[in-house]
Amino acid sequence: MGDERPDVLLTGLLFYDLVLTGLGKPPTPGEEIWTEGMGVSPGGIANLAVAASRYGLRTSLATVFGDDHHGAYCREVLAGQEGVDLSLSRTADGWHTPVTVSLAHGDDRALVTHGQEPPYSQDELMGDPPAARTALVHLEAEPRAWLDKAAAHGTRIYADVGWDPTQRWSRDLLDQLSLCHAFLPNEAEAMAYTRTGSAVAALGELAELVPVAVVTRGGDGALAVDQTTGEYADVPALDIEVLDATGAGDVFGASFVAASLGGWPLEERLRFAVLAAGLSVRRHGGALAAPGWYGIHRWWRSLRDPGLRRTYGFLADRVPADPGPPVHHAPVAPPDTTRRPSTPR
Ligand SMILES: Nc1ncnc2c1ncn2[C@@H]1O[C@H](COP(=O)(O)OP(=O)(O)OP(=O)(O)O)[C@@H](O)[C@H]1O
Ligand SMILES: [Mg+2]
Repeated sequence: MGDERPDVLLTGLLFYDLVLTGLGKPPTPGEEIWTEGMGVSPGGIANLAVAASRYGLRTSLATVFGDDHHGAYCREVLAGQEGVDLSLSRTADGWHTPVTVSLAHGDDRALVTHGQEPPYSQDELMGDPPAARTALVHLEAEPRAWLDKAAAHGTRIYADVGWDPTQRWSRDLLDQLSLCHAFLPNEAEAMAYTRTGSAVAALGELAELVPVAVVTRGGDGALAVDQTTGEYADVPALDIEVLDATGAGDVFGASFVAASLGGWPLEERLRFAVLAAGLSVRRHGGALAAPGWYGIHRWWRSLRDPGLRRTYGFLADRVPADPGPPVHHAPVAPPDTTRRPSTPR
């Protein structure tokens, strides 16, 4: 009998993301700017769902869709196009799917969001969660009851965390790591929660609290410790031009889970996650920017740099013989059709 459990269990808020790039200059009230590019994609928790599903992982998502155009679009992309299992998700009457407009400018972006309080909590959506091989969660200050149940079912919990807008960085949040198998904050978050001054020092503290500790460092790559095997790894990022960094941390997390489910050594897990996240920042948006096996395979096949070919040589044994059909990326208007029309409106 095969293992029928979902590979990855997810819950969280879903967004409809509209990403505008090539602004030229920041927006000013009273002025209109015509941008060079745009992309549309499901975002928020959809980033993790699509990134995981594109590795062929059985991915189960518990979220809420509004009964509006944006909700219907996100549902169709997730279930129809990407094969995500939505049996734990619900559509809420009269509720707006949260919408985010992302204005990418320079290496950063400004986000403008409209959203209402979701009508169902994560615990209501999850109920008694199905036993899954892993769950990938964003820890919040308030512990979620379903996490205890998932851990009790033997689900391995991989946890990320977000920026704390209160800037309190309460250490109580780290208590939740006792339920977790892995923790993958970025450098700023890791240092803030551990009250340390470097990524290495933060990693050392976190390694005391959770079997697998990872600290991501944006354009500087990532480092990690696996206490279950005694491995340590520190790998550089891909040298690439960033188009839109939305969801890089999510693609990293989903890719790290995929590689961990494969039982790979820590350095390979980390290099793979860094590669996938790096490929995703070359494209618009979060979810649809995820490379999946198709994107990884393409990169590997086109790689000419002998140093990188050696470093990433492990991919030859890891990428499936059939990486599947091309993945869909966010539709982007080609630059030559986005010039401002001469007729004023
Ligand atoms: N400028 C970049 N160049 C190359 N790779 C990058 C760049 N920025 C991010 N990445 C890749 O994405 C991974 C995660 O990025 P980062 O450490 O910024 O996470 P994050 O801050 O959690 O992201 P997010 O904003 O999505 O939450 C990095 O480890 C790296 O592999
Ligand atoms: Mg992050």
